Parts: sequence; C-alpha cells; structure tokens
Amino acid sequence: MQKKVALTGIKPTGELHLGNYIGAIKPAIELSKAPQFSSIYFIADYHALTALKNGPKMKEYIYKSAATWLALGLDPEQVIFYKQSDIPEIFELSWILSCHTSKGLLNRAHAYKSIRDKNIEAGIDPDTDINMGLYTYPILMTADILLFHSNVIPVGKDQIQHVEIARDIAQSFNSLYGETFTIPEYQIADQSSVLIGVDGRKMSKSYNNTLPIFSDSKTLKNIIFKIKTNSLPPEAPKDPDDSILFSLYKEFSDESQVHKMRERFYKGIAWGDVKKELLATIEDYFRDSRNKYFEYLNDTAYLDSILKTGAQKAREIASKSLKDIKNKIGTV
Ligand code: TRP
Repeated sequence: MQKKVALTGIKPTGELHLGNYIGAIKPAIELSKAPQFSSIYFIADYHALTALKNGPKMKEYIYKSAATWLALGLDPEQVIFYKQSDIPEIFELSWILSCHTSKGLLNRAHAYKSIRDKNIEAGIDPDTDINMGLYTYPILMTADILLFHSNVIPVGKDQIQHVEIARDIAQSFNSLYGETFTIPEYQIADQSSVLIGVDGRKMSKSYNNTLPIFSDSKTLKNIIFKIKTNSLPPEAPKDPDDSILFSLYKEFSDESQVHKMRERFYKGIAWGDVKKELLATIEDYFRDSRNKYFEYLNDTAYLDSILKTGAQKAREIASKSLKDIKNKIGTV
C-alpha cells in the first residue's frame, strides 16, 4: 500500500495551551500513528520570523515547541520531525514558486489583507507594518507542502485559504510543465475538538482565556479557581452541560469518571470541589508529559540531535523533488 503523506507546520509561539493540545496536537499525534500515513511535522520558524524579531526568544520558542511535541507523544522514529530553516530546498522552491504566482493571488490572502484593511480603515498608509515575508507567507507555505508531495494537511480553519493557494499554485505549475506536484487537501479537526476557555468562549491566546499545558501547579490552580460559576449553594442540583468546569473536566477524564461527575452535579456539588477535582485531573493527565517536557528542555543537545536527524531525512526527499522541479524549469 502506498502511504499518504500527512504534513503540517507548527509555528513556534511560546507556551502552548490546552486548546492547542485538544484541537491540534492530539489529533496530529493520533494521525501520525495511523498506518496509512507517513507523517512529516516541522517547526515553521521562518514563518514565525514574519512577526518574531528577537533571537533569544526565537531560540527559546523553537526548543519549547520541540519539547512540547515530543513530551506529548510525537515519536521521532515514526514522524519526520525537523525545523523548517534547516531545509534550504524549501527556500529555493519558494523562489521558483514566487515566479509562478500572480501578485493578485496574494493580495487576497487573509493575513495580509486583514492588516491592510485595518490600515486603510485607520486612514494610514495601507502597507504600514507589512513586511514582504508576511506578504509572501502563503508561497513559503506552498513550498513546505509541495516539496514533500503531501496529500493531507491537518490544520486549523484559519489555514484553509493557504492550502487552497497551494492547490492553485500546484495546478498551474502542473499544467505548464506536466505532472510535477501532488495536489494537497486540508484536513480540519472535527468541531468537537474545540476546547472552551476559562471564560466560556473558544480557548484562544487572543481571548486571553487559556490554560497553559505545562504551567506549574500554582498557576494552574489560580486560573482554575478564578473561573466564574453561578451562585447556586453547594447542595443545589447543577446542570453539568452548562458548566465551563464540567466541559473542561470531560476532556481529561475517562467515561466512568465523567459519568460519576455528572451524577454529582445532579445531586449537588460545591463549585470549589469541582474546581479541586478539575485541577487534580488535569495535573494527573499531564504528569508524565510534564516531567518529560522539562527533561527535554534541560537537554537541548538532545533536541538538537532529534531535529538534525529529522532534517537529514527531510532533505533526502526534498533534494530529489527539487531536482525534478529544476529539470522541469530547465535550470538543470
Ligand atoms: N501557517 C501555519 C500556521 O500558522 C503553519 C505552517 C507553515 C503550515 N507551513 C505549513 C501548516 C505547511 C501546514 C502546512 O499555523
């Protein structure tokens, strides 16, 4: 059986939260274990560079991302796991693709367009705070995807347009030079994997309502104990399906625990007790990974070696593809 390639990029953005875990990391790690896929996951550091201009922070975030994914179960024997900037072929392809992409296509790309629209609304120069990296971001992402003949791209909804741009570019290149690129498809984690944040809205960094995955006990406790509840007295029956605490508890407990907690809500449970249980449950769930996370972070030489091995494997594939592409455009 010819395996399908599942590929995704992870921007190194500092501390990841439980919403990232449920919505992206967990499904991606599950996918990487499926026998019909060969998985390629990488740290998209040069995409982050469009916004992050701080050397020490960049370095720190790259290590934290690598440590997070490994600690949460990514198996580097099973997944080709590397750092984007270690693969020069991606950037060469990015240039080649730039020369085959109309400027108009990128004018419509949403990340760029939303900043531009805001500038226009504010009555300032439309190009304020827009660097060329942000503008050509979708081309670099297309190069990431096409170089590895990716079939399936697991991403969040905000990335759909980028995958569609990759499809457009691949199709027009193929029709110009003959079959060269595989046409990728996006895959969105199902709706049920959106986690509620501590204020009841979707958990997201931009709402400031997140629970970090590897925070210390005290921080986690502080956030959980601040979650707003209604003012029902402890003995009053409560509706689990209308509770932020219960919806979080559900994600990190097994069926029988969820069932028991549901019953306790119906009978009447003090909010303080629910919070205590939630804290203990989350701590239990991540105990092993948390220990591993800090071990990895203390051993950056190990992380370097994992990323280096991943880059070697990736470059084997990348250099073959690039050779074929250069053959098509006539530079070799
Ligand atoms: N743009 C993606 C994000 O912000 C990260 C990314 C970079 C990516 N290259 C990719 C995702 C290739 C999928 C495939 O989340």
